[in-house]
Amino acid sequence: MNSAPNGPTLSLAALAARQLEGLPTAWLAFATDDAAVAVMRLQPTDPPALWASFVQGAERARLDALIAPADRARSVAAHGLARLLWAAATGYPPQAGRWVVPGSGAKPRLARVDAAAVALAQGGTGASDGGALDIGDGVGALDDLDVNVAHSGALVVCGVALGRAIGVDVEVVRPTPDLDEVARKICDPIEYAAMPPSPGSPAWLDAFYRRWVAKEAALKARGVGLAGDPQALIVDLAATTARLWPVPQPDSLPPADLALAELDVGPAARAAVVLLGAAPPRWPMTTERLAAWD
Ligand SMILES: CC(C)(COP(=O)(O)OP(=O)(O)OC[C@H]1O[C@@H](n2cnc3c(N)ncnc32)[C@H](O)[C@@H]1OP(=O)(O)O)[C@@H](O)C(=O)NCCC(=O)NCCS
Repeated sequence: MNSAPNGPTLSLAALAARQLEGLPTAWLAFATDDAAVAVMRLQPTDPPALWASFVQGAERARLDALIAPADRARSVAAHGLARLLWAAATGYPPQAGRWVVPGSGAKPRLARVDAAAVALAQGGTGASDGGALDIGDGVGALDDLDVNVAHSGALVVCGVALGRAIGVDVEVVRPTPDLDEVARKICDPIEYAAMPPSPGSPAWLDAFYRRWVAKEAALKARGVGLAGDPQALIVDLAATTARLWPVPQPDSLPPADLALAELDVGPAARAAVVLLGAAPPRWPMTTERLAAWD
């Protein structure tokens, strides 16, 4: 495997110094040696106009097709945030990333675009001197860097992980009448039986949304999304830190290749990140605030 300009690095220091700090919005970022997650709350002026310029080609066409301005802003923010984390992890400029969707319904990934494509995207000719970017010669170096985004309401979550798959999810808590029915569909019978009484109560909603985001983050890490079976994953909310494991081994320890962390995104939403991979998870994650979060 070739290496990126400065070798793939993924640390809070890299994130803070290179990309996140000083941006005109509120941030939280969480990181381990091999994974990082950032949370953004959109403000009326977000996402930064610069981020829209990152989005080119088919990705731009897809985002432009989103009719509601709020949806478009959220997706531009998610994609821009993903590029910033990707850039921090790889040392490449954010414009050097290209979203690739390997098939219908498949998990999108960020790949390094070649220099000619970058130049073309910037209005150049595609010749080697067509753009100001020097994106090195690390073609193919980052196949093992996984990226995933989620958005709900004004919240955007993005995660990147080196050498393992990552999935993230965020949901604004919305007490709608059909949630009990949804809970029956997504919960294993053991989990459903353990739900607090009174569907719709604050405790019930808390349990429901924590389970929902954990399961969806796991399915997104696996790349199947909602085509996967959320009932096949059990979330243990009783543990000090919520745990997640596949059915049918509810008595076993969570396997080392499925690690869940819940993200504190404030009282109005729940969010989670799940990492897959053979290496043992390095939880708990260290958490660092890069900017004020009120
Ligand atoms: C991905 C999926 C879980 C999104 O759910 P959601 O709650 O609406 O949206 P979220 O905010 O959680 O996540 C959206 C992001 O997930 C990412 N995503 C899309 N497909 C994905 C997949 N298969 N695995 C992981 N992540 C995926 C995208 O980057 C998307 O953001 P973008 O559209 O701005 O690029 C859902 O659309 C899905 O399951 N899609 C794949 C399966 C599918 O299409 N099945 C068809 C019917 S069976």
